[in-house]
Amino acid sequence: MNSISEQEVLQFRQETKGTANLTHFNNAGASLPPDEVLTTMINYLEAEATMGGYEAEAMYQPELLRTYDLIAQLINADSDEIAILESASAAWMIAFNGIAFSKGDEIITCEMEYVTNLIGFLHVQKRDGICIKVIPNDEYGNFSLPALEEAISPKTKLLAITHIASGTGGMMPIAAIGAIARKYGILYLLDACQSAGQVPIDVKEIGCDMLSVTGRKYLRAPRGTGFLFVRKEIRDQLRLTAIDGFNAEWVTTTAYKLRDDGRRFELYEKNRALTLGLGRAVAYALHIGVDRIWTRIQLLSASLRQNLETIDGVTLHDTGKQKCGIVTFSIEGITPQEIKIKLAAKKINVSVAMAKSTLYYMDKNQLTSVVRASVHYYNTEEEIDGLCAAVLEISKLLP
Ligand SMILES: Cc1ncc(COP(=O)(O)O)c(C=O)c1O
Repeated sequence: MNSISEQEVLQFRQETKGTANLTHFNNAGASLPPDEVLTTMINYLEAEATMGGYEAEAMYQPELLRTYDLIAQLINADSDEIAILESASAAWMIAFNGIAFSKGDEIITCEMEYVTNLIGFLHVQKRDGICIKVIPNDEYGNFSLPALEEAISPKTKLLAITHIASGTGGMMPIAAIGAIARKYGILYLLDACQSAGQVPIDVKEIGCDMLSVTGRKYLRAPRGTGFLFVRKEIRDQLRLTAIDGFNAEWVTTTAYKLRDDGRRFELYEKNRALTLGLGRAVAYALHIGVDRIWTRIQLLSASLRQNLETIDGVTLHDTGKQKCGIVTFSIEGITPQEIKIKLAAKKINVSVAMAKSTLYYMDKNQLTSVVRASVHYYNTEEEIDGLCAAVLEISKLLP
């Protein structure tokens, strides 16, 4: 697969005003949106203010509905399997809390699982008496498929996996895990928060039943957006935690009927400008091609790792065979927080990944925090050189 050409990168940067004055390596936090995402939202808010909210919605209805088609295309689902929500956590919780657990049921997860999800497991453990099993990565940081199969029992109700953890560059073998979920007929909930827009995602190939995503990270959509995929065959298995006159229809004074599509998991009111912004960001990614985006992200992140490795005092923390655009490291003698501040003074954005976000993994590797430099396709080799030069300078100035 051809990667993105330098000329295209230049064009994407010209279409992204945020790239003009800073180096943004916090794409795993929130990417810089393309300018057209911003104008789409501003124009819609302008229409709301000048026409009226309901009238603007009616005018933009085809475009609003198209957002569902675009998301479906992005993950190879059907449009009626998508709910648009405000975050990945909101999406994940709607799916997870929809599952009816009984005492003794088991949830199997991985050590890369995200904090929201882990707290969710603990909550139902306390409430329903379920059992949580965590499959540890092997010594090279790879997920063990045999260990997963061994852990499955007749009581296993859910496989819950985070594809890409928030604080390390390794990736889970989600399609192989999906094959095991299908073999044993177990529900499979995938946190693809860091993956959508970075890695091609095909829910049919992965074989997941539910998938949660945020908009603001690799999709370059606005903050406050996300979506949930629920495979239509399992829609009726999930309990609803919130019902209004949108996701249910009042049939008689004593009966109601739930919506029969993915929007069953939404409520009526939402920010329509954000929905349009999300749609525009997904269209932008589709236009480039997520497979091409993924190729470039792998090239750039490999180059960043290679460069960082040559600097004395720098330790890389990404493990596992397959790595993504998230690059984590530390410098001996200085805290990640201080490194972040020093880089910010040079207009380089990175973030600090804290142990609490990926507690099993960080605890096991005795890490409290690490610097996270996350690359996207609009970053350049020159920016990587700039970051590495700044890291070298920081490490040289240490006492
Ligand atoms: C792996 C992973 N899952 C879920 C989330 C939560 O996403 P949101 O903040 O959109 O709820 C994050 C956020 O960093 C994440 O990295």
